[in-house]
Amino acid sequence: MCGIVGYTGKESALSPVLEGLRRLEYRGYDSAGIALTVTQGAPLWVAKRAGKLGNLESTLDVVPESHSGIGHTRWATHGGPTDSNAHPHLDNEGKLALIHNGIIENYVELRAKLEARGHTFISETDTESVVHLLSDARKAHAGDLAAAMREVCKELRGSFTLLAIHSDEPGRIVGARRNSPLVVGVGDGENFLASDVSAFISHTKRALELGQNEVVDMNASAIIITDLDGNVLPHKEYEISWDAAAAERGGYDHFMLKEIYEQPKAVADTLIGRTEGLDPEITAGIDFNAIDKVVIIACGTAFHAGLVGKYAIEKWADISVDVELASEYRYREPNVTSKTLVIPISQSGETMDTLMALRYAKEHGAKIFSVCNTNGSTIPRESDAVLYTHAGPEIAVASTKAFLTQLIAMYLIALHMGTERKKLSASEHALLADEISSLPSKVEQVLETVEPLRELTRKFKDATSMLFLGRHVGFPAALEGALKLKELAYMHAEGFAGGELKHGPIALIDQGTPVIAIMPSVGSLLHEKMASNVQEVKARGAIIIAIGDADLASADYKVRIPSTHEFLSPVLSVVPLQVIAYEMAIARGNDVDQPRNLAKSVTVE
Ligand code: G6P
Repeated sequence: MCGIVGYTGKESALSPVLEGLRRLEYRGYDSAGIALTVTQGAPLWVAKRAGKLGNLESTLDVVPESHSGIGHTRWATHGGPTDSNAHPHLDNEGKLALIHNGIIENYVELRAKLEARGHTFISETDTESVVHLLSDARKAHAGDLAAAMREVCKELRGSFTLLAIHSDEPGRIVGARRNSPLVVGVGDGENFLASDVSAFISHTKRALELGQNEVVDMNASAIIITDLDGNVLPHKEYEISWDAAAAERGGYDHFMLKEIYEQPKAVADTLIGRTEGLDPEITAGIDFNAIDKVVIIACGTAFHAGLVGKYAIEKWADISVDVELASEYRYREPNVTSKTLVIPISQSGETMDTLMALRYAKEHGAKIFSVCNTNGSTIPRESDAVLYTHAGPEIAVASTKAFLTQLIAMYLIALHMGTERKKLSASEHALLADEISSLPSKVEQVLETVEPLRELTRKFKDATSMLFLGRHVGFPAALEGALKLKELAYMHAEGFAGGELKHGPIALIDQGTPVIAIMPSVGSLLHEKMASNVQEVKARGAIIIAIGDADLASADYKVRIPSTHEFLSPVLSVVPLQVIAYEMAIARGNDVDQPRNLAKSVTVE
């Protein structure tokens, strides 16, 4: 939520800053801005515009030469998406510029104090208080921007990534973070700062992690990281394992489509070397026999992966599992003990709701075993153990390949726990592992048959509502299908448990209401039950699109997927649902990769 980038080095700064913003635009896209240091001591060069990055770019005809600068792409929290609320924000001399991701909770009192001191504010943002505060602190610290940043951070409440530049010192960028992401890219005669590594991946694969309450002070040739008391900290360097091509569209019309088609590989990469059991290095520190409860915490799509995980872990590892919306969890003050294993699931590793729930559980003694797609992000750093999914960078705001790999992570954890807890025999483990290993090719088969879905989807382009029905693991799949459609088509969509329909939601069914039914395998008890639920809605005028491994006679439209173990079926049934949501967005003229009002990584509560 909000993308942040900083560059200092030999190149003309505009190009790497703009490139970084393009790659980070998925984090927020309601306004964008850039500040560059041009002439020492003169006001900074600043451009900012409401709307997508393209709006800003169209104004950039004449840009002065500069070798350091910062850029921001915004997802508004305080103050609407206007030119004046766009970042960077400036001090009253126009020489100090600041960009921010997060929320400053004490900005009202800070603003009152600063206005009383004579500072003039021009925006409605929480961020502007920080730039004025930083300006005063810099003067008090004889022009030392890093010392000023450390002092300011101590005064701020809330979450933030901050980057600042001052025209008295071209080439210097100072950053800080608390509960919001910031990574350093180490180049050759140039250095970068960004919300995530995709911003600078085409320039360097060397990255440094920044911890909580750390301040980074850099120029083109040096990087100093300190805590808020000014103690210098060692660099924690790592190499980025993917390349720039992974963050490009590669011939596809949209990132989402590319990511849908990358799913067989993402699933295969997440499985490599793990089906026989998880590496002891991954699970070190977790005794699966010493726990009496599992709690999965997550948001959005990741929450749906957690719901599927519950079925597998409860069955294969014989332990009870609660799945909690991270944003609700800690406020309930739930019972957590040292025997609770908490599994946060997060693609980004930065979702604030999930992070806060993790911290609550940790403070109450739980062991934390996270599932994450982003190396070095905050959630894995604060966990006892991490199972990384290997989806690669997911750029489209609507999650697809990350979801499938989260499902795989759930199965791998369930298998591992089942064996560790002696609830699964070696032969049961092997059978399940075999079936899980066949999923990449089965996802491939689904993708080979989705073409007719495009035309089918267009038939329902003007529908006002679409319902998704599922039972057992098909229920979370239905929830995920409905979420995808809401996100992309801006259409009313809801997922229901098939058996629950008659208790109320069936009143929504009208003549012509499209209903997508996720059918359990033929022969299972639930297949019959679900077929009855389908008959109930059909009798009331619904048009049925059935997804399953056999044709359902009563369906108006049939989408066939390969057969698999019942628990694994969401890996296959969700793929057509993703394609339907994608096509519906196109049919309705919506922005596929950047749907309105959303951001991919939500770093505020
Ligand atoms: C946002 C995104 C969703 C995502 C959720 C959790 O709401 O728009 O697509 O599922 O955050 O994100 P995470 O990075 O924690 O998986």
